[in-house]
Amino acid sequence: MILGILLSGRGSNFASIAENVLTGKLPCEIGCVISNVAAAPGLERARQWGLNAYFLDSKGKERAAFDAEVTQKLRSHAVDYVCLAGYMRLLSPEFVSAFPNRILNIHPSLLPAFPGLHSQRQALEYGVRYSGCTVHFVDAGLDTGPIILQVVVPVLPDDDEESLSARILREEHRIYSEAIRLIAEGRVEVEGRCVRIRSGK
Ligand code: GRF
Repeated sequence: MILGILLSGRGSNFASIAENVLTGKLPCEIGCVISNVAAAPGLERARQWGLNAYFLDSKGKERAAFDAEVTQKLRSHAVDYVCLAGYMRLLSPEFVSAFPNRILNIHPSLLPAFPGLHSQRQALEYGVRYSGCTVHFVDAGLDTGPIILQVVVPVLPDDDEESLSARILREEHRIYSEAIRLIAEGRVEVEGRCVRIRSGK
């Protein structure tokens, strides 16, 4: 199974996936890493690892035209699954339908709670006792696609955005690779908006 990674920044989720791939813990390859931000630390890391790493400039391009460029690059590396890893762009409907149920995202809340940006801040402001993270397939909506895995993380009395984000991030790193592994093992089926995970033998 060949992965294509899209990122815009730090890239810690990408790095944890890549470490698992490069050490043989995930039965996948990384076909390419693409960033819409030239100076994204995640892109630099991809280069250091010797992966196919590309900056694609979206400036002055229509969303669909830019996404077509990204699609072409992913196809040129025979990518089976696209992993969004802090990719700060909305996807065009054309892009989503080019990879039906083959785009994964990690989101730092228990969806459908707190979609969009600053989910950890939203959780603190709402006053929830528990938040967490979600790996889901991407559909045409914002953080609305079928849910693959979720983990609950407690919100502690003294938490600020930074401490809660750090606690959630540790779990993000764990479940993103876990979801990829389940897919690579052929154990994930999508039925409507529900995901069924078959037990491993
Ligand atoms: C993570 O919190 C992820 O859940 C969200 O964007 C952040 C990306 O962090 N989608 P990183 O770039 O993977 O470190």
